[in-house]
Amino acid sequence: MKIEIRDLKDTEKIGKVIAGALEKGSVVCLDGDLGAGKTTLTQFIAREFGVNEYVTSPTFTIIKEYEGKLPFYHMDVYRIESEDDMYDLGYEEYIYSDGVTIIEWSNNIINMLPENRINIYIQRGYGETRILNIIGKGLVYDKLIEELKNYENTCN
Ligand SMILES: Nc1ncnc2c1ncn2[C@@H]1O[C@H](COP(=O)(O)OP(=O)(O)O)[C@@H](O)[C@H]1O
Ligand SMILES: [Mg+2]
Repeated sequence: MKIEIRDLKDTEKIGKVIAGALEKGSVVCLDGDLGAGKTTLTQFIAREFGVNEYVTSPTFTIIKEYEGKLPFYHMDVYRIESEDDMYDLGYEEYIYSDGVTIIEWSNNIINMLPENRINIYIQRGYGETRILNIIGKGLVYDKLIEELKNYENTCN
């Protein structure tokens, strides 16, 4: 599914729809160039997911944990060089947990991602415009696509 975003407000709305679809164990992968809006979208998702703390980029720490409706794990695997790096961080305990996990630069660990997941590729356009390409597998993904279709029908 492809979604056109006109401005930050649209990104916020999409973040809200995504937050509403997430369940225990959900994994959302965000890819796209630096400055595409991966962290920004994560911040909107987090806020709607009940995270009160301000979410910042975990580029240097790789993983940050927050408390929301459920535990909220935010990863940025830009600097990850091997699968061992991920095991050392206890990666599996996060993705197979009672929380939800958002992974920026997921393509770096493509072989380690669970089969059931949501993949969002963000393409930057002029100004605040963005294009989201969303693919995935599993019940949460199916639910999200339904909700995004409803969103598009009411907004456009
Ligand atoms: N529609 C939009 N969605 C997300 N970010 C946007 C949008 N329009 C402008 N921006 C800006 O683009 C920048 C994206 O940065 P960031 O979210 O850190 O990107 P990334 O994590 O992909 O490197 C932010 O300064 C944000 O305010
Ligand atoms: Mg980022």
